[in-house]
Amino acid sequence: MKKSFYLGALTALLVFLGCQKQESAESRPTPAEAQKVAAIGEAAAGKLKQTLVAELTAAMQSGGTGAAIEVCSKKALQLTESIVDSSENVLEVKRTTFKYRNPQNAPDDWDAQALRVYETAAQKGETLPPSYIQKIKREGETTFRYYQPLLAAGLCLNCHGDKNLLSEEVSAQLATLYPDDKATGYKEGDFRGLIRVSVALEE
Ligand code: HEC
Repeated sequence: MKKSFYLGALTALLVFLGCQKQESAESRPTPAEAQKVAAIGEAAAGKLKQTLVAELTAAMQSGGTGAAIEVCSKKALQLTESIVDSSENVLEVKRTTFKYRNPQNAPDDWDAQALRVYETAAQKGETLPPSYIQKIKREGETTFRYYQPLLAAGLCLNCHGDKNLLSEEVSAQLATLYPDDKATGYKEGDFRGLIRVSVALEE
């Protein structure tokens, strides 16, 4: 009896804290804000896609898929950092997904919320929104997040496809570099994850 009372009270408190956090943390951007954030986000996301695919293709052509894994594991995070350096409105660029290969790409609460929007649409077979924007208020500061979906293309399946169909070299490298890899089993056209651009607008 007593125990269930405490449990009930604890649940109520958690629900209350949960709601509070959400309310104070995220609000809708105004149309003017959304427009600015979209322009900044689109430019940064486009640059990341372009450089990553170019680096991947070049590495695969010169050294095969094994060499390309090196590019991905050593350069992907470096590339995202170089995009941040090139724009003062861009705070951070990241790739995120529920099924991550590198734990550094795991989603936080806001990422997870955006990912659920896309996963739900994908499961229902709906067209994915081309972008998604969050306005986040934290410790008196307002920032924005711009997300863009990444789909698995044929090229990607060399390293993210059916585990049984990966080459021996790729399987061996993944096992060494990413023992807890969750990022295989994709088919062409599957929703793979999001590019996230964190943006600050001047007041
Ligand atoms: C040569 C192998 C290879 C190919 C081809 C490849 N990837 Fe990856 N991918 C990786 C590796 C390795 C990582 C982990 C990178 C890191 O450590 O940051 C990764 C990470 C990612 C991530 C970050 C989230 C996570 O799982 O850690 C996304 C998103 C992603 N890949 C999407 C793609 C897409 C889309 C394509 C096709 C355009 C693609 N990849 C092609 C090897 C590859």
